[in-house]
Amino acid sequence: MNVLIFGAKGYLGQYFLSMYPHAVTPSVDIANAVDVAAVLDTHKPDVVINCAGRTGRPNVDWCEDHKIETLHSNVLGPLVLLEECGKRNIYWVHIGTGCVYSGDSTTPFTETDAPNFEGSFYSRTKGHIDQILNDFQDEVLNVRLRMPFDGTKNERNLITKIAKYTRLLDTENSMSYIPDLLNAVDALIQKKATGPYNVVNPGAMSPYKIMSLYKEIVDPNHTFELLKEEDLPQVATAGRSNCILSANKLKQEGVTMRPVEEAVREALESLKLQ
Ligand SMILES: NC(=O)c1ccc[n+]([C@@H]2O[C@H](COP(=O)([O-])OP(=O)(O)OC[C@H]3O[C@@H](n4cnc5c(N)ncnc54)[C@H](OP(=O)(O)O)[C@@H]3O)[C@@H](O)[C@H]2O)c1
Repeated sequence: MNVLIFGAKGYLGQYFLSMYPHAVTPSVDIANAVDVAAVLDTHKPDVVINCAGRTGRPNVDWCEDHKIETLHSNVLGPLVLLEECGKRNIYWVHIGTGCVYSGDSTTPFTETDAPNFEGSFYSRTKGHIDQILNDFQDEVLNVRLRMPFDGTKNERNLITKIAKYTRLLDTENSMSYIPDLLNAVDALIQKKATGPYNVVNPGAMSPYKIMSLYKEIVDPNHTFELLKEEDLPQVATAGRSNCILSANKLKQEGVTMRPVEEAVREALESLKLQ
């Protein structure tokens, strides 16, 4: 299988490259149709994986002040891929997000629910492209992951990130354990699955709960406090999506991910050894 990855130098792109070490990794702007067309014609991939996107540094608050750059990478870029892969009949995978919802845990959001979280520009751009791709369900696999984590000290790992916070929300969320995410996406690719899929570990956890386990497993001296939802504006400019996604569609496809608490414990055990 000839794989081509856009955004291979990014956090998730590097993991996908480790999954497909022979993949071609062009450094072109995905919103530049001429350059995208040229790499597709040169490499003639069987599968294109789009890991490119603007996520902001140090976090999505950056996107509030860089709206055009964010729109360019998160909406215009995937539109170019849709058109250029479409013209060549190339199967492609968009690494999207489930951070387009806000809601309590009573009814997990499914792939047919329309985005309802408008609290950040980042999430609005992701919601727009998510909905557009819904009109091309036979052409593209839209991977909707959330809060990726693993057992490394990578600064983008959710656990490493929240270990630096002194106050944490106790709101339950869906999350994606990167080793499970990679296997699940690979299984979907092997099946040439298309359309939107929530690719999250079943169950939900809060950052506060994860750090309680961190204290138990990794560092008994770690300290943190509870951050109330209403106090979030004290530490973040933009709102943050809090939601639980249904993993049923993935399961029905025969692709399983382990329960989230089991995955978090495994990640913490490997952090403990570092
Ligand atoms: N990390 C998360 O928490 C998370 C959760 C859910 C979904 N996602 C989605 O997954 C995707 C990858 O996220 P990530 O965490 O790996 O982000 P990342 O570490 O910021 O990596 C994104 C990569 O995309 C590249 N890029 C940005 N705009 C581009 C463009 N127009 N053309 C070509 N390359 C471009 C960046 O290159 P430069 O750095 O050189 O600009 C970077 O290498 C994003 O679409 C993100 O929304 C991420």
